[in-house]
Amino acid sequence: MKEKMLDGKIALITGASYGMGLDMAKVFAKEGANIIITARGEKRLNQALEKVKECLTEGRRAIAVQADVTSPEDTKHVYDVIEEEFGDLDILLHNAGKGEMEIIDDVQEDHMMETLNINLAGPIRYAQQALMRFFLPKKEGRIIFISSVNGKKPCAGVVYSATKAGLNNVTMSLAFRTWDTNITVNAVAPGATITPAHLANLRGEQDGGEKWLEYSGPYFNYQVPDTTGFDQANACLFLASHMGQCVTGQVIQVCNGSYLG
Ligand SMILES: NC(=O)c1ccc[n+]([C@@H]2O[C@H](COP(=O)([O-])OP(=O)(O)OC[C@H]3O[C@@H](n4cnc5c(N)ncnc54)[C@H](OP(=O)(O)O)[C@@H]3O)[C@@H](O)[C@H]2O)c1
Repeated sequence: MKEKMLDGKIALITGASYGMGLDMAKVFAKEGANIIITARGEKRLNQALEKVKECLTEGRRAIAVQADVTSPEDTKHVYDVIEEEFGDLDILLHNAGKGEMEIIDDVQEDHMMETLNINLAGPIRYAQQALMRFFLPKKEGRIIFISSVNGKKPCAGVVYSATKAGLNNVTMSLAFRTWDTNITVNAVAPGATITPAHLANLRGEQDGGEKWLEYSGPYFNYQVPDTTGFDQANACLFLASHMGQCVTGQVIQVCNGSYLG
């Protein structure tokens, strides 16, 4: 039997009740990991847990913890549960994010602060807990953030692009902090990926809607096919596994070449 890439590892995936986070949880489960998934909405989280359980290999477990990444209390609770249930953590995959694309004309204070909190403070919060409670004491672990091609090449969605650029910097800051350990810190930067959030953006249903495309369109190659959550999950799998052990402080774009740079 082929050896599983994450056999026996314990992996936390935030924002995994639908979208690419759920695909990541399924792929990690199929590769032998124990899985903890989080999201805010209880119903979809429990439905996702059932789907993840179908993918587990023998002897492995999956649990779901309802939690908002903007809440320090929820964050601590997630790690308390992991400590109680598994006693350890090997992989943090911080995927939860808000993809609304307001151009500067339409930015509103409350939306801006929420996006900063989810996309930038959330990953720092989760990484701090993972590092202090599990990874630094054993000098081992994997952190993977889900950024965006807009982290390197901003689009007109100003707040979103800024959060992902900030997240790329966080990735490198944490790689500096951990270079003398077996901890790696990397980001996967998706291009357009078929998920509920992306489809809502294209339909103009999210804040920002089609205006972001109107102003940013010429800088991206939209002739290439969109990627899927499984394409993103496979890049995360590489970074989470022994194959990625020499890669740290990197932002890997998975975008079919929609943005080359
Ligand atoms: N799709 C794309 O084209 C694309 C491109 C580049 C980058 N990305 C990035 O990829 C990641 C996933 O995107 P996606 O398209 O899969 O998004 P999505 O379809 O909107 O799914 C987001 C997931 O995160 C959860 N979530 C949202 N806010 C949360 C919060 N505050 N706390 C905890 N969980 C939260 C959602 O569940 P609840 O709502 O129930 O909490 C859901 O499970 C994001 O970081 C996004 O910025 C996406």
